[in-house]
Amino acid sequence: MLESDIADDIVGVMLTEEQLATRLDEMAADITRDYQGKDLLLVGILKGAIMVMADLSRRIRVPLEMDWMAVSSYGSGTKSSGVVRILKDLDTDLAGRNVLIVEDIIDSGLTLNWLQQNLLSRGAKSVEIATMLRKPESAKVDVDVRYVGFDIPPEFVIGYGLDYAEQYRNVPFIATLAPHVYS
Ligand code: XMP
Ligand code: MG
Repeated sequence: MLESDIADDIVGVMLTEEQLATRLDEMAADITRDYQGKDLLLVGILKGAIMVMADLSRRIRVPLEMDWMAVSSYGSGTKSSGVVRILKDLDTDLAGRNVLIVEDIIDSGLTLNWLQQNLLSRGAKSVEIATMLRKPESAKVDVDVRYVGFDIPPEFVIGYGLDYAEQYRNVPFIATLAPHVYS
């Protein structure tokens, strides 16, 4: 998918493929350093994290396992409430494991805050978070995020796994949607 393919649907490109790739290299280098000699379980949060998971995991140079979870936040429309329902749980026993949650975006932080506590309560040795994007101005709770790709303004963005009505996940860059798409 090229920018010209969705030019009418977007206001502009916020982060290019090249910017994402460069930052992923840096994040993976940090993760490789921090997990040297430790076991590592990446937990991707479906569906948004599929691109970050694929691109980040291939850059990490320590042995690792991958598992997936799907969660849904109860709430009105696009706002999450912090009450989380597990739609698909992990297949892996977390006892004694070093878990790294891989996310596409942190908005209010309510989902990740809940998830981190939930995975710790299963006996994980550590539960850290890696996210491609974060909206600091939208934060409702303080989440300790170890690896952040980019802090962005509180605008609705699509691409690189992020959707609007299930569309645009395959856009390889991050863009802001044009108002006519959602109004
Ligand atoms: P929290 O709990 O941090 O929720 O408020 C994070 C989840 O909200 C969704 N989200 C977005 N999805 N573009 C999207 O496509 C956005 O700009 C956006 N902001 C938040 C997303 O599902 C994320 O996991
Ligand atoms: Mg998500």
